[in-house]
Amino acid sequence: MEKKPTREEAWELLKKSNQNDALLKHALAVEAVMLHFAKLFGEEDPEKWRIIGLIHDLDYEQYPEEHCTKTRELLERENWPEDYIRAMQSHGWEICSDVEPVEKMEKVLYTIDELTGLITATALMRPSKSIMDLTAKSVKKKWKQKNFAAGVNREVIEKGVQLLGMDLTKVIEETIRGMQNVAKELGLEGQVEG
Ligand SMILES: [Fe+2]
Ligand SMILES: [Fe+2]
Repeated sequence: MEKKPTREEAWELLKKSNQNDALLKHALAVEAVMLHFAKLFGEEDPEKWRIIGLIHDLDYEQYPEEHCTKTRELLERENWPEDYIRAMQSHGWEICSDVEPVEKMEKVLYTIDELTGLITATALMRPSKSIMDLTAKSVKKKWKQKNFAAGVNREVIEKGVQLLGMDLTKVIEETIRGMQNVAKELGLEGQVEG
């Protein structure tokens, strides 16, 4: 029987197959942004959004060649509900899965996955290394420099923003806000005074 996974279960599962600090931080960033957007949209199950954000790259450290496919297997083994698994797979649409983002939750995940990487890289470039007062304007400036964080696929983000029918600047602003809620965990708090 399918059961509703909890945040603790998701975190335990993730820790079991991920040792890489950057990957764990990425998972925490995506989780926080998913939670933020769920609240912003007044969604009825923000926990579901955050859990999917947290778990979306579960297989990446151990099975990079089977990304998305292996996570499905792992989550099926844990009896995760199909809608969670489907949403997870949609983040790799046209890259490692053919699952197109359809639900709002899926569209947000698809859009902000790469965007959190660009925001992190932009924050780390600052002398303060802080996300707390980072603006969408600074991120957009870095967006235009193709050599900066070159691994971040701007086209995917643009496509996601279109699917969402939102303004890019607004999406960047809200993604920054979501990440600010876990700035400490992400190591993006900046210099702590005192
Ligand atoms: Fe991924
Ligand atoms: Fe990811």
